[in-house]
Amino acid sequence: MKDYKLAVVGATGVVGRTVLKVLEEKNLPISKYVFFASSKSAGRKLMFMNKEYTVQELNESSFNENFNFAIFSAGSNTAKKYAPIAASKGCIVVDNSSAFRMDKDVPLVVPEVNAETIKNNHGIIANPNCSTIQAMLPLKPLNDKYIIKRIVYSTYQAVSGSGRDGICDLENGVKNFKIGKEKNIVQTNNYELKKFPYPIFNNCLPHIDDFLDNGYTKEEMKMINETRKILNTPNLPITATTVRVPVFNCHSESINIELEKDFDLNEVIELFNNFPGIIVLDDVKHNKYPIATEVSGHNEVYVGRIRKDFSVEHGLNIWVVADNIRKGAATNAVQIVEKLIEFS
Ligand code: A2P
Repeated sequence: MKDYKLAVVGATGVVGRTVLKVLEEKNLPISKYVFFASSKSAGRKLMFMNKEYTVQELNESSFNENFNFAIFSAGSNTAKKYAPIAASKGCIVVDNSSAFRMDKDVPLVVPEVNAETIKNNHGIIANPNCSTIQAMLPLKPLNDKYIIKRIVYSTYQAVSGSGRDGICDLENGVKNFKIGKEKNIVQTNNYELKKFPYPIFNNCLPHIDDFLDNGYTKEEMKMINETRKILNTPNLPITATTVRVPVFNCHSESINIELEKDFDLNEVIELFNNFPGIIVLDDVKHNKYPIATEVSGHNEVYVGRIRKDFSVEHGLNIWVVADNIRKGAATNAVQIVEKLIEFS
């Protein structure tokens, strides 16, 4: 078996650190790992597979040493600057940012759904947006069997998806409240907001990423456009409302789907049960449905509240929860590398 060399760019960030954990768990046939971050973290020590590694500063010559693969989790600007340099030196880049996702020559990959698109690819591969990834697993078998006619996404997204500053805003909110006499929650100290325009603690913010001229946010348009690309349904009617909620980790999504063909609920449950990477948790008589605190730390996508939408002819509602840092980012990226190794 060939031994590979892998670089992790953004190894000190929220996603990067989870990439390291998933790599430890999977133990792929990789003989050399190098961890990169910005100049701020250069020289920092990271423990990985019981060995100490020194974080390197990313620069133009970082990819001179013949890496086979690089996982980038350092944002769009870093990806735009360094991913093409890495690719030009023969390194296959799996990029977590939105920089290349909609490029027509860049595969946008959820391995359980469209792994075949990375066969013979030698450049950049994009990891989809976290909220898109988890929706793809249940939607793929539904589309294959019944043909999806329309999708309505409503998301409840955790602060971990907004990096260290978003987590800090929720932590500070938790630390700075007390219950008032009237039992209403009030903020005590004023604290500096690092990421969000309003306190995320005790609020739901219908605002993820920037607003666009069409009234949607970039996050909403990412879900719409990326779903169409991954399912290979360029004209599928889709709408989305994405909401940041005061949850530390795991995105929850209500997905309303209209299908072309009639379906049987038990058959749908069987489809989900047989699809790799999905765990069905749906026993409402015993209050069993997926919740963020239970799904956190898992690599699978959990599906529950599977029921008919009686307001349209072939309508279905599902509730989908996944660890946005694992399956929504780190795990999916490592799975792509695993597939690249399998196909090479
Ligand atoms: P650093 O820790 O040195 O800032 P998060 O999204 O959790 O904030 O993490 C972002 C990750 O991307 C961090 O590892 C960060 O490194 C890294 N990063 C940010 N800018 C650069 C850059 N210009 N070059 C390399 N890594 C970068």
